[in-house]
Amino acid sequence: MAFRCDLIIRDATIIDGTGAPRFQGDVAVNGDRIIAMGDLGSAAGQEEVIATGLALAPGFIDAHTHDDRAVLCGPACQHCKVSQGVTTVVVGNCGVSLAPLRMTKRPPPPLDLLGDESWFTLGSFAEYAEALEKRPTNVNTLAFCGHMSLRVEAMEGDVYRAANDREIAAMQARLSEALAQGAAGFTTGLYYAPNAQATTDEVIAVGEALRAHGGIYMTHMRDEADNVLDSIRETLRIGRETGTAERPVEVIISHHKCSMPENFGRSRETLALIDSLGQDQPVAFDVYPYPAGSTVMMPERLRQDVPVQITWSVPHPEVAGRDLDDVAREWGMTRKATAEKLLPAGAIYFQMDEADVRRIMAHPRSMIGSDGIPHDAVPHPRLWGTFPRVLGHYVREVKLFSLETAIHKMTGRTAAVFGLQQRGTIRPGNYADLVLFDPATVADRATYKTPTLTSLGIHRVWNNGEATLNAEGLTGAAPGRFLRNPRLAA
Ligand code: ZN
Ligand code: CU
Repeated sequence: MAFRCDLIIRDATIIDGTGAPRFQGDVAVNGDRIIAMGDLGSAAGQEEVIATGLALAPGFIDAHTHDDRAVLCGPACQHCKVSQGVTTVVVGNCGVSLAPLRMTKRPPPPLDLLGDESWFTLGSFAEYAEALEKRPTNVNTLAFCGHMSLRVEAMEGDVYRAANDREIAAMQARLSEALAQGAAGFTTGLYYAPNAQATTDEVIAVGEALRAHGGIYMTHMRDEADNVLDSIRETLRIGRETGTAERPVEVIISHHKCSMPENFGRSRETLALIDSLGQDQPVAFDVYPYPAGSTVMMPERLRQDVPVQITWSVPHPEVAGRDLDDVAREWGMTRKATAEKLLPAGAIYFQMDEADVRRIMAHPRSMIGSDGIPHDAVPHPRLWGTFPRVLGHYVREVKLFSLETAIHKMTGRTAAVFGLQQRGTIRPGNYADLVLFDPATVADRATYKTPTLTSLGIHRVWNNGEATLNAEGLTGAAPGRFLRNPRLAA
């Protein structure tokens, strides 16, 4: 087949994202699409890349991010993700979304993970989509609408309580509007005040907007520790009751984990429950490849058996990156008093069991999501290291699963769960979101002490056919798109 096109990547080991075994071949790209693959010996590319010895995969989809604001500030802000091979990010997680919410004072934690009030200026989802289209970045964005953002807007005065009927109706209307304007679904962070004060019935009532418009329910569950099984049941009930008898709303459990030492090993129970309930309704989960979590500093939830590292502090920026106990010792204060003095602040909590992390990651329903927090001073290393860590540490060193399976959990499976059309697999007709990497050297370098080191072994990244990363680093191109709610009912 003789033809000319923009780009041909030759002699790559193609891992197509479906989970199928790798094969050797060429891939041709024209404009924003893959147009051919196989042996393309007689075709000619404007640019040709010889990929002998390297693997070519669909660009990685980060299933769980807090990049709502990072995607608005241009390509440099997504260096942490593109340097890992990421081409699409899912934003608006854990009930926290930048839109639709305008603030005149500092938003309550954990909404302030996204920044102070100066960042909350978007009164509708349409404005968010417009901002992204006006100033595009180097990743595609799939955006969810967060319950906490809706609550702060709808519940004037005290948000630390259950919402009343009028407030619920207002939230439901705002969610409907957001879905119609391109939001991919609804998220909650029921673990956190002021979302924790919402009853299951409130969540269902607000989430009813999903029935008419189509969309996913995604949640940082109420409890990931002792009552994790109840939380899974609550999540699946919300999926059933916001959908119809024939079609429950698809649910995604965010960063699935079993928290706290007394719950170590319980992923056997949680995964069994998810599988049994999942026979009758669609359910998936994302997971990050580390046994520590990260969120805002919560002094009332500290435990002596869970080590804590500070990620940021407004009054004491100088202690970011340090162990809370060391700072407490230095200040001659209790741990709790120290944590209180740091507020508002963020932290890493070493609260999981490595065996659970592996069991959850290896489960067929899992997708890889970083849960990286991009504006922290000394962030959790998952922000810069998640995807190469799975490919290097868990595939090559630990041999937890095959490279094909790992790629599937970062691409084809993720696209299928979120309903993304023509992304997530390498096949003619699909968008040319691609990553070229070396399976023998790919590795994360980010650690808890050095969390912003770029990974090794990621050679090139293309997004919608345009190179976003090459040997010199970011290209500066900004071909990323806002991906409108793929489930929007017609
Ligand atoms: Zn979360
Ligand atoms: Cu999160």
